[in-house]
Amino acid sequence: MYILGMESSCDETSAAVVEMGEGVRAIRSNVIASQIETHRLYGGVVPEIASRAHIEAISRITYQALEEAGITLADLGGVAVTAFPGLIGALLVGVNFAKSLAFSRGLPLVAVNHIHGHVAAAYLAHPTLKPPFLALVVSGGHTCFYRVDSETDFVEIGGTRDDAAGEAFDKIGRVIGLPYPGGSAIDRLAYEGDPHAIALPSPALGGDTLDLSFSGIKTAALNYLNGKAQRGEEIVRADVAASYTHRIVEALVKKTELALAQSGMKTLVLAGGVAANSHLRTALEALCQKTGTALAMPPLSLCGDNGAMVAAAGYFEILRGNFAGTALNASANDDGTCTSINSTGLNQPDIIATW
Ligand code: KG4
Ligand code: ZN
Repeated sequence: MYILGMESSCDETSAAVVEMGEGVRAIRSNVIASQIETHRLYGGVVPEIASRAHIEAISRITYQALEEAGITLADLGGVAVTAFPGLIGALLVGVNFAKSLAFSRGLPLVAVNHIHGHVAAAYLAHPTLKPPFLALVVSGGHTCFYRVDSETDFVEIGGTRDDAAGEAFDKIGRVIGLPYPGGSAIDRLAYEGDPHAIALPSPALGGDTLDLSFSGIKTAALNYLNGKAQRGEEIVRADVAASYTHRIVEALVKKTELALAQSGMKTLVLAGGVAANSHLRTALEALCQKTGTALAMPPLSLCGDNGAMVAAAGYFEILRGNFAGTALNASANDDGTCTSINSTGLNQPDIIATW
């Protein structure tokens, strides 16, 4: 079955065609129109600009995705769209486009939870992967552990109590003058610095909770940088990147080890934009080798937001019969509940302007 996947929850508009079925999990196209260059001017995502850019791109990239896949709308078995969580105005563009397309063609429509989408990237990269497994989703808006009981059943068992790991990377990246989003630049710069140069608090909360908190390490790094600036002392950016990355990766690995032990899971899926972090990937490989855990990590091309992951997640929603109607609405919230349009919530990417 060919599924069209549409993603517009933040600053990437994406449309993709995947082919899913018994023994088949193949990406036929995955077109991504990134807005990063536009938002870089402001140092973070500007929601209203994001919505406008989605509107400009969505029709073009959808037809490009079909063309690259070598199919037409008539060949589709369904349309899957990210409906939550994310920036409400951005989500609405994808949801309304997908609804119109599905309705006009009489195609089944399914709403996809963006987080489930990130996890579904692993199904595309690892054709034999099946739940149950433990998933660590680390992105600009989320840092959560899930027990994934089936492709559509997720139980959150821990995660950040405040900021997300990606947001923490982006914030410090911006302060030390790296281009937005700072995550990948910090990743590279960290190789040139000393991971023990600067004492920073661990984001891992004490005890046997699986929860983390990134606000403390962010504040400590900001205080360190401000103190240095006030004293007129030179800042070694590579040391900041290395020490910051070291503490964040160490905390994520520590809580992943605990989550594996507590859940009894023998497979770990790493997902989300921060899953592209090379230090985290290496450290989790080592952990999984030590604990005898199978590790599924999508390639870097499937870690960030993309339509293929949404289409893959949508396929499993179609199998479960979880169809959406024309009343489908977008939601900024993690659970898909609707609130007022100016609600951005705590677990949002690094937003510098909100409605
Ligand atoms: O999943 P994603 O594309 O969007 C959200 O759903 O939030 O994740 C974007 C986040 C950004 O914070 C970005 O800085 C981070 O992923 N990121 C990285 C790396 N590549 C992207 N963080 C750390 N290391 C990387 N290599
Ligand atoms: Zn994402």
